[in-house]
Amino acid sequence: MKKAIYPGTFDPMTYGHLDIIKRAANIFDELVVSVLDNKEKTPLFSAQERVNILKEACKDIPNVKIESFEGLLIDYCEAKGIYVVVRGLRAITDFEYELQMSQMNRKLSNNKVDTVFFNTTLKYSYLSSSGVKQIAQFNGDLSAFVPDFVADLLKERFKR
Ligand code: PNS
Repeated sequence: MKKAIYPGTFDPMTYGHLDIIKRAANIFDELVVSVLDNKEKTPLFSAQERVNILKEACKDIPNVKIESFEGLLIDYCEAKGIYVVVRGLRAITDFEYELQMSQMNRKLSNNKVDTVFFNTTLKYSYLSSSGVKQIAQFNGDLSAFVPDFVADLLKERFKR
C-alpha cells in the first residue's frame, strides 16, 4: 500500500491545496494531510480549526486522512511509517525553499524520506493562504480561492 504525507501550515486551506490533495489521493492509496501545529507562531486559525476545515473539504475523498503534527516532519514520518512527502510547487520562487527542505529532510532521515512535487494547476499558480487572508481582511471576493464555508470563517474572523 503506497502512502504519503502532505504537510503544511494550511492557514487556511485554499483551492490550490485542495487541488494537490485530490491529485495526490489519485496516485497514493492513502494520503495523510497534516497541519503543522507550531506553538511559536500565531496563525489566524488554530491547528484544530485548520484540521476541521480540511476535514470538511475532504470529507468525500475516502483515502484522505487529516491530522496535525508538532516538531520535525521526519520524526512524524518515522512515527507513522510513511516515507513519502507530497508538496506543491507553484512557480520557480517556491523551488529553492522546497528543494532545500526536501534535501534537508532526506539527509536528516538518512535517505529514508523522499519528497514528491506536484506542479500546481496553472489557474492556482498565484494562490497563497497569505494572499487569501489579505483579501479577507479587506472584505474582497474569495469565491475563486477558497470554498464558501472557508470564506465565511475568514470573514467571521476578520469581523472581530
Ligand atoms: O505550508 P508551509 O508553511 O509551506 O509548510 C511548511 C512545512 C510545515 C511543511 C515545514 O515548515 C515543516 O515541515 N515544518 C516542520 C519542521 C521541520 O521538519 N523542519 C525541517 C524541514 S527543513
